[in-house]
Amino acid sequence: MGVDAAQKELALYGGTPARTRPDPPMFPGGMEIGEEERQAVLDVLESKNLFRYYGVTDRPSKVAQFEQAFARHMGAKYALGVTSGTAALHTGLVALGIGPGDEVIVPAYTFIASAAAVIAANAIPIIAEVDDSLTLDPADVERKITPYTKAIMPVHMRGAPCDMDAIMALARRRNLLVIEDVAQSDGGSYKGKRLGTFGDVGCFSLQYHKIITSGEGGVVLTDDKRLYDRARMFHDSAGAWRRGEQSTVEPFTGGTNYRMSEITGALALAQLGKLEDLLARMRRNKRIIREGIADLAQIQLRRLHDPEGDTGICLIFFVENGERAKLVAEALRAERVSAGSMYDEGVPDWHIYRHWTHILHKRTATPTGCPFTCPFYKGKAEYSEDMCPRTLELLGRAVHLNVSPLLTEQDCEETVAAIRKVAEALL
Ligand SMILES: Cc1ncc(COP(=O)(O)O)c(C=O)c1O
Repeated sequence: MGVDAAQKELALYGGTPARTRPDPPMFPGGMEIGEEERQAVLDVLESKNLFRYYGVTDRPSKVAQFEQAFARHMGAKYALGVTSGTAALHTGLVALGIGPGDEVIVPAYTFIASAAAVIAANAIPIIAEVDDSLTLDPADVERKITPYTKAIMPVHMRGAPCDMDAIMALARRRNLLVIEDVAQSDGGSYKGKRLGTFGDVGCFSLQYHKIITSGEGGVVLTDDKRLYDRARMFHDSAGAWRRGEQSTVEPFTGGTNYRMSEITGALALAQLGKLEDLLARMRRNKRIIREGIADLAQIQLRRLHDPEGDTGICLIFFVENGERAKLVAEALRAERVSAGSMYDEGVPDWHIYRHWTHILHKRTATPTGCPFTCPFYKGKAEYSEDMCPRTLELLGRAVHLNVSPLLTEQDCEETVAAIRKVAEALL
């Protein structure tokens, strides 16, 4: 094969890969861990103050500093640092007063933690379809509302905002609470307003895979002092009488320990300082790739409710069917682009409701089967593997590409060349 012919031939079939180097690992904030984080952690260690509420000296808490900076950054009044995104969701749900007898509508495409947190709060997740934005379909949410529905949980999946106008209008019309799951979209926005500030509470994750990270961690965001106080009380079983904290709510029992440590707070604060730069780089890279393939009629890009507010972490497109999606992803990987198909019957992916087997079978930790069998619950939640066919159909023919902030302009141009080559040969 000549050089020209080898460049045109798919790498899958022996040609030269379009990319001259592979994608870097997709840990946006994690790959930026550097001097700032090192110094922040060492500072805490040197201070010997490892706990947010007291220590050997009176120096200000790193967690509190992070919370204030996070709330300011996102444009909300209160932020509460917790141990994980799941803890943030659990805490947010309890703060909203959601519990036995209540239903919460969650999308069929989200990490299992979104639904599991509802069950942890002793409420019932009701699973609704996503649309071609791969976020909650407001029309299906409306169909799934029952007399027991208390809240909607829009999840800003894979970096992109939900249709917040439609969801908030629906919530107001039907008198429902809104808890946003922003775990995969730290810093994203919708029509100029940050994600996590539309609903009654917004819940974030700082787990290692997320845009900014402290390894593990999470944040509950709200404008409502009462909800903040309830969240604070639940995340700390002694939250009712911590020094220096004024509460507006009656103490209640049932709290946990989801308190953020000072080391995590210091790390998270350092990472927050890098958020805008990460977003700018991912958005720039995604723009180059999108523009480079805009004329390819064979490729139907995922619909974005606000392209400006999309965090840019990935590019998703749909092809004609699942078999083609797998082949396209395989061909792209051979070109050294970190692509994947999104739904494979055989591979249990915890982001797709069909694989939430223990939820679908209502298998709980104790034989009583609560909350599904709870006498306070008067509804009839039923689950089946096929209950959200539109979600399965869309995910089945979707192809996913990571868009790392570490891609150079050349990497992006080579990625465009890879997609064009694969589209021409296979689509
Ligand atoms: C959409 C979504 N919600 C919730 C979570 C839970 O976050 P964590 O792993 O920090 O508990 C994740 C993280 O994987 C997620 O992707």
